[in-house]
Amino acid sequence: MAFTGLYSTLFAAPDMKEAQRFYKDWGLRKVKATPTHSIFETKIGSRVELKSPKAKNLPPAAGPDMHFREMVWGVSSKKHLAEIKRELTKDREIIEDKDGTLHCIDPNGLGVGFRVWKPKTRIDGARSKINSFDMQERVDEISTFYKDAHPIRMGHIGFILPDLKAAEKFYKDRLGFWLSDRYGKAALFLRCAAKSQHHNLFMIWSEAGNIKYHHTAFEVRDIHEVFGGGVAFDKKGWATEVGPGRHPISSAYFWYFKAPCGGAIEYFTDSDYLTENWKPHNYRNNLFSEWHLPDGIKQVPDGEIRPSVSAAGKH
Ligand SMILES: [Fe+2]
Repeated sequence: MAFTGLYSTLFAAPDMKEAQRFYKDWGLRKVKATPTHSIFETKIGSRVELKSPKAKNLPPAAGPDMHFREMVWGVSSKKHLAEIKRELTKDREIIEDKDGTLHCIDPNGLGVGFRVWKPKTRIDGARSKINSFDMQERVDEISTFYKDAHPIRMGHIGFILPDLKAAEKFYKDRLGFWLSDRYGKAALFLRCAAKSQHHNLFMIWSEAGNIKYHHTAFEVRDIHEVFGGGVAFDKKGWATEVGPGRHPISSAYFWYFKAPCGGAIEYFTDSDYLTENWKPHNYRNNLFSEWHLPDGIKQVPDGEIRPSVSAAGKH
């Protein structure tokens, strides 16, 4: 029984044209883009789906002004899908599509689905070559400079929730997600398989009882693609939420931008990879970042080459 990752996210798009431009600029492949329905895809085939807020078959919003409507998790086999159906039918309504995709509502009111999904593996996902003191991977060769990002996959999704205990029971105890780390009763980092990136589902408790979509994170090939992609996305007019920076929890480099359908969107790379042997930590202090820039970085225009006029010279 294994999950293969976060397959899709579904949003109601109040401004479909703006949302289409956003995901295209983000570097996803356009599969479909009509005034009422759009699909954008990562390299491995995980996708963002946008529907008109008036669409008939849209799952309900879990909270006020929430455009997020559903996340669908990939599972490895029909057998696993049947096990999920058997487990969840015990206490909630399950809607089954013709292709076998299951849809239901989780304990906090979030739309969640499951379908058999095998991510594409023959993709361009290789990092650029690195030179270090002990190893030269790049000899007589200039490094890669990314003009924009092309995300490989959706790595994780995050929410602010009123009932974190119920969420832990649902995703960890009933569906078999693994606990990676936690902040006491304040936040949980879960992964959907024993062997996985540090987290695929991140949930923060709202003591005030609010529910909000927080962000979705897209993995890119390396740190240079986080920087290059972020600079290009900024240049296209999208606003930084925070970053670039580095998370102590997961070790990943990040850069978050504000998203038109609510919450944020993140480029990330170099996450910790965990197995059954990982021992979850219970962190007491907020470890959002080791360092970060609050408001992005800008592209530097090419400079003119001039003879140095100062005695010391400048480079
Ligand atoms: Fe994240």
